[in-house]
Amino acid sequence: MHLFDKKILLGVTGGIAAYKTPDLIRKLKAQGADVRVVLTRGATEFVSSLSLQAVSGHQVHSELLDEQAEAGMGHIELAKWADVLLIAPATAHCMAKLAHGLADDLLSTLYLATTAQVFIAPAMNQQMWQARATQDNLQKLQLRAIRFIGPAAGEQACGDVGPGRMEEPELIVSALASALTGNKLEGKKVVITAGPTREPIDPVRYLSNHSSGKMGYAVAQAAAEQGAEVVLVSGPVSLTVPPGVKRISVQTADDMLEAVMSEINSAQIFIAAAAVADYRINHQAENKIKKSDDKLTLTFVKNPDILKTVAALPSPPFTVGFAAESQNVEAYARGKLENKNLDMIAANDITLEGLGFNSDENALHVIWKEDDVQLPPANKTGLAKSLIALVAKQYNNKQSN
Ligand code: C5P
Repeated sequence: MHLFDKKILLGVTGGIAAYKTPDLIRKLKAQGADVRVVLTRGATEFVSSLSLQAVSGHQVHSELLDEQAEAGMGHIELAKWADVLLIAPATAHCMAKLAHGLADDLLSTLYLATTAQVFIAPAMNQQMWQARATQDNLQKLQLRAIRFIGPAAGEQACGDVGPGRMEEPELIVSALASALTGNKLEGKKVVITAGPTREPIDPVRYLSNHSSGKMGYAVAQAAAEQGAEVVLVSGPVSLTVPPGVKRISVQTADDMLEAVMSEINSAQIFIAAAAVADYRINHQAENKIKKSDDKLTLTFVKNPDILKTVAALPSPPFTVGFAAESQNVEAYARGKLENKNLDMIAANDITLEGLGFNSDENALHVIWKEDDVQLPPANKTGLAKSLIALVAKQYNNKQSN
């Protein structure tokens, strides 16, 4: 939820990509933003005011001189309300108007009247984008610290190929989020566990699970992007180490515990994303077990609970656990939050198709003592960013209490 509480004024101008704005609004809201929409006259040809009102949950504004709107939230109030003015799609005409400070409709007037940070996602024919006039306007706007998202290159609605397509809503949202969130974990050390553990049976066999490590690695990357010093204690996976992250590779739960304990004293945050084997073989066979008998009996003993051990330290870091459940997801997660004495838990339902274990996507229900947030299905990279934003916020809240 890294757009949590952000007030976004979305200006929609008359390009074919306007049909993507209901999806854009949904994605902005999923990140916790409050979105109000301003439509230009041209935009109403491509998307209906009614559908944008339905997805944003607010009345859509389009006229500069509208008695009814001025009686409610007038244009100056709207300009003051916004933290961010996002114009998507922005036509060449819109860019030209903003560059020259014209104010002949509601959106261009709001641009002059607001102190909000302005982001523009242009959308136009590739030749129009490359035209000298548009490039001059782009330069003018960039000099005013306006941030541009896109345009993307590719096949266009008119059949041309080149730069000018509006950036995809998902990318607009993540560009906005990284521009707005800053380095929330600067100066903090975060230890993260990821992947499966591998418990040996004999010199050639082991007990393990299907964890891909993708969620833990995505969380490590998101924490590093927020300026944290990140130590990733990882079981055997085939993933590359995210930039700026220190990886300690381990095999067994015992190794993982040892590596975590050697790093934890100087850490402020611990996130346990590993799928640690709950049991290990009592005595690892010295030599390869032969297939002589019809039956083979192995005895298991319990592995240490790394997360619980860290949370029970005399002065523990902010601890975050995961709970992958197949039933009573919330109840079990809340139980773990309490029993393991955690600050936060991220629960997911492993029965949902295409999500979770070994997949690129997931959905999380993040729970802490005072509140909870549902993070809807998304790729693990995006989800990890939202999780880290929540962790940073709660960690900072806890420090200031
Ligand atoms: O109790 P359960 O295994 O369901 O708890 C899951 C959470 O505890 C995860 O965050 C996992 O990384 C952590 N865990 C651990 N050490 C174990 C077992 C689980 O750190 N031995």
